[in-house]
Order: sequence, then C-alpha cells, then structure tokens
Amino acid sequence: MTQSHDLQVTVEALVQQGKGILAADESGPTIAKRFTAIGVESTPENRRAYRSLLLAAPGLGEFVSGVILYEETLGQCAEDGEPLPALAARQGIVPGIKVDTGKGPLALAPGDEITHGLDGLAARLEDSVKLGARFAKWRAVYNVSDSLPSRAAVEANAESLARYAAICQTQGVVPIVEPEVLIDGDHSQARCAAVTQEVLLAVFGALHRHRVALEHMLLKPSMVVPGKAHAQRAGPGDVAEETLRVLRRTVPAAVPGIVFLSGGQSPAEATANLDALNRQGPQPWRLSFSYGRALQDPVLQAWRGQPAQVHAAQEALLKRARLNALASQGRYGA
Ligand code: 13P
Repeated sequence: MTQSHDLQVTVEALVQQGKGILAADESGPTIAKRFTAIGVESTPENRRAYRSLLLAAPGLGEFVSGVILYEETLGQCAEDGEPLPALAARQGIVPGIKVDTGKGPLALAPGDEITHGLDGLAARLEDSVKLGARFAKWRAVYNVSDSLPSRAAVEANAESLARYAAICQTQGVVPIVEPEVLIDGDHSQARCAAVTQEVLLAVFGALHRHRVALEHMLLKPSMVVPGKAHAQRAGPGDVAEETLRVLRRTVPAAVPGIVFLSGGQSPAEATANLDALNRQGPQPWRLSFSYGRALQDPVLQAWRGQPAQVHAAQEALLKRARLNALASQGRYGA
C-alpha cells in the first residue's frame, strides 16, 4: 500500500457524512483545569477513567469518525486491559494524536504567541503510529486586538503549521491544521473576519510552499464570531454567512473537510452554528465538528468523578454527539 493510499483511506474515514471528530486531547494543565471545575483531582488514573468513559460510550461511532487523543491516553488501557486506541478503533473511530507541545510568547512580538513542537516531530509521529494513531493535530492561536496578530505572528504560525503538515504526510499521518482565532476580547465580528481571512491566506500559502497535499489534510478553523466581550452577539445565520464568506475566499476546494473547533461557544451555540453553516447550501468541502468543550462540558458535569455516574455521563456525550451529527447535515433545527 502506498503512503498516499493510506492517507486517502484515513481522510475518507474521517469525513464520512453525518459524523465529526471528538477532541479529547487536553494537555496536562488543561485537563487539570477542567477536572478542578468539577472537584476531581487530575491523576493519571482519573484521566484514564475519564477518557475510557468517553471512548466506551455505546454507539459513539455512529456520530463520531475520529478522536484526538493526548500522548498519555494513547498508551493507556480501559478497565479490561484493552488499549484505548484499540477501543476507539473497535467503535469505528479513527484514533489521532495532538502533536504540538503547546504555545508560548513569540519573541519581540508582545501579545502574539507561537506554537512549539517541530523538533523531533517525525520520530514522535513514528511512535504514535505504532500505538495506533492515523491522524494528528497542531493548534496555532491568534490573539485579536486592533493591532494583533502582527504580520510576524501570522507568518510564523503559518510556516509552523505547514511544516508540521508536511512532516505528518511523510509519515503517512493525516494532518489536521488548526489555526484558532481566539474568541477572547471585545473585537467585532468584522474584525474577526478580517483576521481569519489574513490567517487562512497565510496558512494556505505556506501549505502550498511546503507541498502539502490539500486532498490529504483537514482544516480545523474557528468560526467568525464577535469577541466574547463585544457588545453584540451574532446569531447562527450571521455566523454562518460571515464564516462561509471567509472560507470561500481562502480555502481551496481540494480540501476535503473543514471541522470546526468550538472555541468557547456553549454546546448549544456550537451546534446551532454548525447547523446554520450546513443550511447555506452545498459547499466544496464537508463541514463538520471537531469539538472539545462543546462535546465534553455536559459530560464532565454529569460525571464529576463518580463511578456511579459513568452511564449518565456517556448519555450526555451521546446526546451532544448525535445533535452535532444532525447539525453536520443541516438537520438539527428541522
Ligand atoms: P474546543 O472545541 O474546546 O475549542 O477544543 C477543540 C480543540 O481541539 C482545541 O485545540
């Protein structure tokens, strides 16, 4: 089997109609924050129990085509000893791996951030593939203000995303390219649109320079929304229209799928917005979800670390997954 064939098989498995991706790849500090909010200590055992609960939810594969895991989870096992990536695969869910190593300040660019993790990436991917990973994720973040992000931040993050994607493809791993324009701040929806357009143009320019096969990647963008502290909220119709305007201008039709992050939207908002996006008529790319918080917040609330609550927590996950699967076909509000 050629590498290109492997990439094609994985992409097709990920962009199946009526399914999306579960992002369960919170880093150590992030999962600790989520656990603290529900009074659970972040120990390896509690993280294992929680992620097992997610992956073992009965029938999850009906709505979810892929799951993004954190490195630790890739090596953990369910109660009965089955490795978690194998449990996902048995549910018909392709296991993936977050491979960036987090973000930090971009030197000499106050307020801007850059994502790390390119050094040794090929070797780490090789190890992850042995543990079952078939796709990967790398997240770049852009803070928004009147002057941010700087051109330097836009270019540097685009370059890193493209280098990551190229390395993934040489290892037979489908890259999910995630440029997240952050929702924090009081900027308008128009400002978010302008920044998102500039970011995506730079990202696709860099992907082209680095010879990344657009057919064998997925884009994971943020939606075009006003900042959280902006005076006006935008309804699903507005979000869909502005988001699609930017995507049509910037994302080549060769990209098979666009899977949105939820980025601080409530679970209900994220579902309504995805539904509205899919009601705007046929697009060149499949439009679906790759949600973290919008799928998991209700699960964490139901679970709270109590073994007796596992069933209720799984029901909460299945509910959000089912509603988002409907939204990925424009059938949620029907
Ligand atoms: P959210 O949906 O919570 O934004 O998480 C998605 C993700 O993978 C962030 O990197």
